[in-house]
This record gives sequence, structure tokens and C-alpha cells, in this order.
Amino acid sequence: MAKLTIEELNELGLRAEAMPRHVAMIMDGNGRWAKKNGFLRAMGHRAGVTRLRELVRFSSDSGIKALTLYAFSTENWKRPDDELGVLFSLLIEFFNKEIDELHRNNVCIRSIGELDAFPLKVREAVKNAEQRTKNNGGLMLNIALNYGSQAEILRAAGALCKRAIETGELPTKDDFEQELYTCGLPELDLLIRTSGELRLSNYLLYQAAYAELYFTDVFWPDFTKEEYIKAIKEYQRRSRRYGGLE
Ligand code: IPE
Ligand code: IPE
Ligand code: MG
Repeated sequence: MAKLTIEELNELGLRAEAMPRHVAMIMDGNGRWAKKNGFLRAMGHRAGVTRLRELVRFSSDSGIKALTLYAFSTENWKRPDDELGVLFSLLIEFFNKEIDELHRNNVCIRSIGELDAFPLKVREAVKNAEQRTKNNGGLMLNIALNYGSQAEILRAAGALCKRAIETGELPTKDDFEQELYTCGLPELDLLIRTSGELRLSNYLLYQAAYAELYFTDVFWPDFTKEEYIKAIKEYQRRSRRYGGLE
């Protein structure tokens, strides 16, 4: 991976100084992509994982600091066992196959969510990737696995309640954010959802307070680097007022 220069970003229609620092993606539409192309759903998931490589690379090259991907939600356990099996195998394969290149490129991998619920092999692959890349100072690549915002907020609230009982003091906003999985990450700037669904599906509800939202009808396996650039261009056109005036 080579960092893109200001000129190279300009050629793509992007302004270097206005790049989002933290992008999140709801990678949706694998199943419908498969159906549209006459494949089994499993093929859609595989195509979805394949898509990741160029998006991670572009994030890193373009100076984005953090990329947070929704890979498996707390609600996705409702899927049939065979689909869960496919998803777990693909996760193991992704972590084991991509780890060398990601590590070489200084990417720091972290999972967010409740990993304990996954089979041992998934947990091992994730933990190994986290362990190997933990000191890397490049792109922070967060993979949301058995992640749900409501569970995350409840977990934080529980931890803060315990502490408040001990200390007799109410928590601050900072205390609360320290207990979220996203602690230490830059504020979320851009949240992208593919496949035409207009909802957050329990993703980063707290963190998205002032994120710019980008929805596209493109199914995840068709979300190319060019589509990503389109999303960032749109982000750069938005006026972020945070309740104030321009
Ligand atoms: C997203 O694609 C992948 C996961 C939720 C794991 P879907 O599997 O939800 O694809 P659609 O929404 O059925 O098309
Ligand atoms: C959201 O997609 C979760 C992930 C992309 C991992 P879903 O396909 O599970 O969301 P719903 O069911 O359409 O809300
Ligand atoms: Mg879906």
C-alpha cells in the first residue's frame, strides 16, 4: 500500500484535508446479490469478503484513520445454522488469509462485540489477528462481531452503575464513552449502508449522533472502491453544523 498524495486524491475528486477520519460500514445485501446473480447465499457472503480487500486498502492509502465494519450483529443469530456455519468459516478464512498483508501494511485489527458467543476457532482467529497487529500504528480496522448497540450501551451502563455505587459519583460523558467498544477511536464521521435499506439495524447508535449517513442501493459485493469514493465525495459536500450555524 502506498499513501496517496494530495494531488492523487484531487485527481479522484477528493480533498485531502476533508477526508473522514472514521468511517463505518453496514455491509448489507450479500444474499440479494447472490440471488440476483443466480448463486447460493453463501456465494454472496464470499463475494462480500472478497470486496473488503480493496476497501481496506483504499481507506489506509487515503488517510482514513479508522474503519469499522459490521460483520455480524447480535440479531444475526436468527439465521439458519448452515448460513451461520458459512459465515464463521469465512470469518476464520478472512482473518487467517489477510492477516499477513494487513500486518505488513501496519493495520491494527480489533474486534468489537461479544466474542465469547462464537465457536473457539473463530475466537482464536480473531484473537490471533488482534494480538499480532496490536502495536501497529496504521489504519484502525474494527470488525463488529456479535455487536449490537443496545447490548453495548447496556454493558457500559452496568459498568458505570457498579462504579457509581462504589464511589457515590455519577458518571460523565467521558466515563460513558470509555466503556463503549469504540473507546479510543476518532468520532464517527461517515456511516455507509449498502443494499437500499434505510435503517441502522442496531449499529453504532450512540456513535452516529453526528455522523453523516450515506445510503446506496448497491449490494455489498458490488460496493467497489469507485462506489466508496462516491460516498466520500458526497460526505465532502455536506455541511456539518452540529446544531450551530455555518
Ligand atoms: C449482509 O448480507 C451480511 C450479514 C448480515 C452477515 P445479508 O446476508 O444480510 O444479505 P441480504 O440482506 O439478505 O441481501
Ligand atoms: C445488518 O444487516 C448486519 C450486518 C450487515 C452485519 P442485516 O441484514 O442483518 O440487517 P436487517 O435484518 O436487514 O435489519
Ligand atoms: Mg441483510
